Amino acid sequence: MTRKILITSALPYANGAIHLGHLLEHIQTDIWVRFQKMCGHECYYICADDTHGTPIMLRAESEGITPEALIARVHDEHLRDFTGFHVAYDNYHSTHAHENREIVDEVYLKLRDAGFIERKTIAQYYDTAKEMFLPDRFIKGQCPKCGALDQYGDSCEVCGATYSPTDLINPVSAMSGTKPVHRESEHYFFKLSDCEAFLRNWTRSDTLQREAANKLDEWFSAGLQNWDISRDAPYFGFEIPDAPNKYFYVWLDAPIGYMGSFRNLADRIQLDYDAWWRSGSDTELYHFIGKDILYFHALFWPAMLEAADYRKPNGIYAHGFLTVNGAKMSKSRGTFITAESYLASGLNPEWLRYYFASKLNGSMEDIDLSFDDFIARVNSDLIGKYINIASRTAGFISKRFDGKLAAPASKSPLLDSVQKAADSIAECYENLDYGRALREVMHLTDTANQYVNDHKPWELAKQPGQEALLHEVCSVSLNLFRLLTVYLKPVLPKLAADVEQFLDIPPLSWADAATLLTDHAINPYRHLMTRVEQQQIDTVIAANIAKIAPEAAVATPAQPATQNAPVHDTVGVDDFAKIDLRVARIVNAEHVEGADKLIRLTLDIGEAQPRNVFAGIKSAYDPAQLIGRMTVMVANLAPRKMKFGVSAGMVLAASGETPGLFLLSPDDGAMPGMRVK
Ligand code: MSP
Ligand code: ZN
Repeated sequence: MTRKILITSALPYANGAIHLGHLLEHIQTDIWVRFQKMCGHECYYICADDTHGTPIMLRAESEGITPEALIARVHDEHLRDFTGFHVAYDNYHSTHAHENREIVDEVYLKLRDAGFIERKTIAQYYDTAKEMFLPDRFIKGQCPKCGALDQYGDSCEVCGATYSPTDLINPVSAMSGTKPVHRESEHYFFKLSDCEAFLRNWTRSDTLQREAANKLDEWFSAGLQNWDISRDAPYFGFEIPDAPNKYFYVWLDAPIGYMGSFRNLADRIQLDYDAWWRSGSDTELYHFIGKDILYFHALFWPAMLEAADYRKPNGIYAHGFLTVNGAKMSKSRGTFITAESYLASGLNPEWLRYYFASKLNGSMEDIDLSFDDFIARVNSDLIGKYINIASRTAGFISKRFDGKLAAPASKSPLLDSVQKAADSIAECYENLDYGRALREVMHLTDTANQYVNDHKPWELAKQPGQEALLHEVCSVSLNLFRLLTVYLKPVLPKLAADVEQFLDIPPLSWADAATLLTDHAINPYRHLMTRVEQQQIDTVIAANIAKIAPEAAVATPAQPATQNAPVHDTVGVDDFAKIDLRVARIVNAEHVEGADKLIRLTLDIGEAQPRNVFAGIKSAYDPAQLIGRMTVMVANLAPRKMKFGVSAGMVLAASGETPGLFLLSPDDGAMPGMRVK
């Protein structure tokens, strides 16, 4: 039965470049889409840029252009980058489009008329210099719980507390550096709490991964809060129809952007839009997202669709986060790799598709891109195993048999077993367990290579009277190669197209695994893929260290103007002497589960017990490279209790206007425990 399937990837924000993290998601989605299409289903893959909100407004301002000009440019860059990785949308639209505006209004009015919108006056921080209300991330100050300095307005990185920005001690606007004031304003709320019964039921409907359903249960126990969907001007977004000068919060119109993008496609190619979105539709809808935006997709989104009487998603597939070489992607280390720089360094996009696919299993676990593993996996699986089958046999067909494959003399049990694997591999793709699909394919590839090794066509070619056998062996091998190509095609679409050209066949579909190619002329073999070289990896990392520096300043909210001011306050020698600075040897360093910035250090300062210190240096250092090195610590800092344990001291690091953190170290010869004066 042909299914009708609508598939989405999360809409990337229009204020930054596409990087490897985005690619993980869009490649995961694209593989699923291509698989469904190969199976003959009616399937549409849509996406768009997410264009609204304060950061995009400010980014445009800092570039001296209008938000419209910014999002138009970024839209083209994003589409170019994804296309470079063979991600094939049926439509890549924008949330700043008339279709989206119309549907947003329609959804809002339905929610309002059904009684799901309430108005409430709330107090928020207001920047009088910039004349605007400040989003939480644009306010910094001291954590009300643990006193840590320089924390964002919504949560503390040090103790993990979450709070409202009005709780911060000594708040400062990150936009102007001035002290924000309280100001009241009326806001519009979506009554999420009224949707609890529906959501609890929906959560158990098999729409969510088990881990995601558990997460939802946690959120239910914590209690559902009504959701603030309005923002005051100035704001780049859609104005609320019955509330002049108030705008829909970006996260309201972003998921509706899925509908808007589909509407745009439907108008273009004559699809029945309503049939896909009305409540009870018999079409299927799946959203691929990262685990960080589960709350929006598994609570707000289905609740809104239910309350406004539209269809709900059939599945929400959340993936984990991408790390590079075991650590969060880092601008200073050059591992915050943009799609553009990857392609510019001459790296083949299908290497990355293959590597990501081999690591994806449909769970919410994080995924690590280790470059050593990447090189080994691609070179061994794709070049050493898969391509090897064709490159060792195709030449004989061209040279000795006029380019024609033989009709089989007898049934090949090997071909038969590779054909029979189609169903179980299909099931792996369907269930998003691409890693397992590729392991099965590589296992079959091993058996195919074993077959070539056993029959040694290069020796048969030298022996008189072995023509028929040589022809048979090469024909069976190339048929094995064709079947493996069917199974790899969702992951390697470009390579598969090259193979189709080489074999002179129409585009392969999944059903083609049931047939064989006999009595058929093929084209001469040309090499299909090259090996990855370490040099190419070095190039891409170097390119990202060099390039990111000027951009980093805009990617994060501007720092208060005071940050680099000269220090004028003086301290007496006595005060300074109170600080016990010691040389320390880092005997261990490790990641802290759940902390974005912290590394746990074990420091030897010549005492009986080593010290445990949490240092906010994760953006700049890989724990592995820290072990064994010397540094300087404040040994008599009062121990601080953090979410992850007690921190007994502090290590010293330099930072400035350009990105990067630089841990201090003594000259050679200094011993752990020496005093620093
Ligand atoms: N604009 C919102 C999504 C709106 S959907 C209606 C957004 N944009 S984003 O650009 O920040 O992220 C887009 C997607 O990329 C999200 O699903 C996010 O999880 C994913 N990723 C961003 N960085 C990532 C990694 N480092 N690793 C894996 N996925 C990551 O959120
Ligand atoms: Zn804190």
